[in-house]
Amino acid sequence: MTNPSSTTILRRAFELKTAAPSFNIPYLPMMAPVVRALQDTGAFGFIAVARLEWEKFEAGSLEAVREEYERVKDERCTRLHLDHTPVVDEDGLQVDYRAIIERALKLGYDSVMVDGSRLPFEANVQATREVVELAHAAGVPAEAELGAVLGHEPGPLPDYDELFASGRGFTDVDEARRFVAQTGADWLSVAVGNIHGAISGAAKSAHKPAARLSIDRLAALASATGVPLVLHGGSGIPRESLLAGVGAGIAKVNVGTTLRQAYEGSASLGIEAAQRKVYLATVSVIMDELQIEGSANRLLDNGHSEGGSAHVGG
Ligand code: 13P
Repeated sequence: MTNPSSTTILRRAFELKTAAPSFNIPYLPMMAPVVRALQDTGAFGFIAVARLEWEKFEAGSLEAVREEYERVKDERCTRLHLDHTPVVDEDGLQVDYRAIIERALKLGYDSVMVDGSRLPFEANVQATREVVELAHAAGVPAEAELGAVLGHEPGPLPDYDELFASGRGFTDVDEARRFVAQTGADWLSVAVGNIHGAISGAAKSAHKPAARLSIDRLAALASATGVPLVLHGGSGIPRESLLAGVGAGIAKVNVGTTLRQAYEGSASLGIEAAQRKVYLATVSVIMDELQIEGSANRLLDNGHSEGGSAHVGG
């Protein structure tokens, strides 16, 4: 385990009411510019891969991501995270989630996520508890999900305004309290108006609809569970809403679509041009949206003084 642990880093973010971004890597050449953007801005962030990124995109495998991470990592400002390991995936298929989690733990991933959110409550509790035990035995934290963060499923998304107004699929506060108490999950991914960017069809390259967050629901979830909350679908949320959510208990913000579209949109110009776009998009998330330049010093206790002075270039 790398010191300080991801558990300690995210607990600190939660207490300081700031957030760590978690950047998804669907194409391996995206990882180097993401790490460089974190270094140049002095911000801390997770480098993340989800199963769908090696199944449906070009991340390769858990092993390939681990290898590339070893090559470009900077442990003063990065940790490696296994994102969404579904029990039932976006296409409705059962997944051998336990085998994936065990492989990631053996490879030295610094944190893992099990996603049982498509299961009934009790079954989600059971799968999550199993993964929490495996992760803790390896000395790393486990993230779980409760509620429906839509968007990865094929087919059109329900009307967003209707979805938000009805609160359909939002994480229930009382269930969240019981879920965390019964599973021991370290971090909880919640549904509070956030949606994932689409990953299939024409919508995959389209502009993601701007989502809003229910700040009251977030505050209630944070106080009921006492654990750092995770926001999935972090791309394209208006800054005011995002920052209010961080103030209400979001300690980790997953960002996928913004960086993926930056890469795909200029891949035809060559890898270096695409990497440059990814670098600029990552800097913008850090500095303009989350406003966390210099956060690595605060969250990792890396020493003092220089925090905050960014040297963005590339
Ligand atoms: P977006 O692609 O909407 O940013 O969501 C990413 C995510 O939540 C990965 O877990």
